[in-house]
Amino acid sequence: MKVKSCASINTLSKEEVLEQDNLDNYLMTTYRRYPITLERGAGCWVWDVEGRQYLDFAAGIATCSLGHANPLMIEAVTQQIQKLHQVSNLYHIPLQGKLAKWLVEHSCCDRVFFSNSGGEANETAIKLARKYAKTIHQIENPIIITAHNSFHGRTLATLTATGQGKYQKDFTPLVPGFYYVPYNNIAALDQAINDLNQDEPCIAAIMLEPLQGEGGVHPGDLSYFQYVRQRCDDLGILLVLDEIQTGIGRSGTFWGYQHLGVEPDILTVAKGLGGGIPIGATLCKEFCNVFGPGDHGSTFGGNPLACAVALTVGQTLLADNLLSNVQQRGEQLRNGLKQIGDRYPQYIQDLRGWGLLNGLILKPNSTLTPTDIVQATLNKGLLLITTNLHAIRFVPPLIVTAEEVSQALLVIERIFASLSST
Ligand SMILES: Cc1ncc(COP(=O)(O)O)c(C=O)c1O
Repeated sequence: MKVKSCASINTLSKEEVLEQDNLDNYLMTTYRRYPITLERGAGCWVWDVEGRQYLDFAAGIATCSLGHANPLMIEAVTQQIQKLHQVSNLYHIPLQGKLAKWLVEHSCCDRVFFSNSGGEANETAIKLARKYAKTIHQIENPIIITAHNSFHGRTLATLTATGQGKYQKDFTPLVPGFYYVPYNNIAALDQAINDLNQDEPCIAAIMLEPLQGEGGVHPGDLSYFQYVRQRCDDLGILLVLDEIQTGIGRSGTFWGYQHLGVEPDILTVAKGLGGGIPIGATLCKEFCNVFGPGDHGSTFGGNPLACAVALTVGQTLLADNLLSNVQQRGEQLRNGLKQIGDRYPQYIQDLRGWGLLNGLILKPNSTLTPTDIVQATLNKGLLLITTNLHAIRFVPPLIVTAEEVSQALLVIERIFASLSST
């Protein structure tokens, strides 16, 4: 039988949707999911299969920068898939070069390698830093310093780089060559460098997020990052910045590192790059562009379809002046959350963030958990995300309007008001 239309394959019957629990039985049990099934979206809004509408401040975990069903992204996908969507890296891919050129022109880096996700982009960075240490500094067993509470991915090397035992405990033996220090702590970094380099230099790189997202929305300190940069220069080691979440406008500047007055030697990005279409990138400065043919690769990385969409996302970001929207809406959101925090100090301890990557931090001793709040806002039509321990994360699409931010604030206000009246 020939398939005439994908509708018969991809469209779920009403019975199949209602039997969602049964369909989940075919999946590995890796995710704890909220009890809704989203069916379609437009801009900052999504609808579930029951027809309920939600304001989406989760945005595919900070990926859908241009929102849902963006007409320019639809056009980019449609045009490119009609021409060519995947050829592998056996052949030249001009769109890959065009996207790399665009990234280079809008960053401090000179070269780009494309992959498909944040974890892969960080794997690439780790390999590049190791090869640099081995070939330039003749370090046999290079060490990469990362931070406690960091998050760099779920592959074995990036899981090891991630300074949080809870993600690692069932997956030992981990990958050798990582050492953890407290984030934003200069004295602890100095101590670690002294301890590690005691006999002979062995450090390849320091790898950090400019703002720790999954770790609870902790922005980096300016003085710390400037010190880290100086130490890297003095030691001749690399500064790797993981901007998987902060990159491409989410922080209100093009890159998170612009908040900190430093430039990385290696820079990784994924989430917002494709506006929700999977693509990751590892950028580096020319002096550490040490990969040769055969050192690294990816079957899908930098395919024409993903590159066409990422170019569209990037160009729209600039043409629509979205950075200024991110700054203004971020400020509006933080001001509103601050007022709510002032009204309900029994629940709310702090507010942290940059641009449209913000965390409302609950009091650790409150009986309320972030999951309680996120479930309550979901019931009221607002999607948010929990992060480490006490933080609730707000990461709406970068196109969010003032009206939509006000609507989200109203939902939060009402939830805390009802909690305090019970
Ligand atoms: C800073 C950071 N690095 C890496 C990753 C891993 O990205 P992915 O899930 O695309 O592999 C994430 C994902 O949340 C992240 O926030």
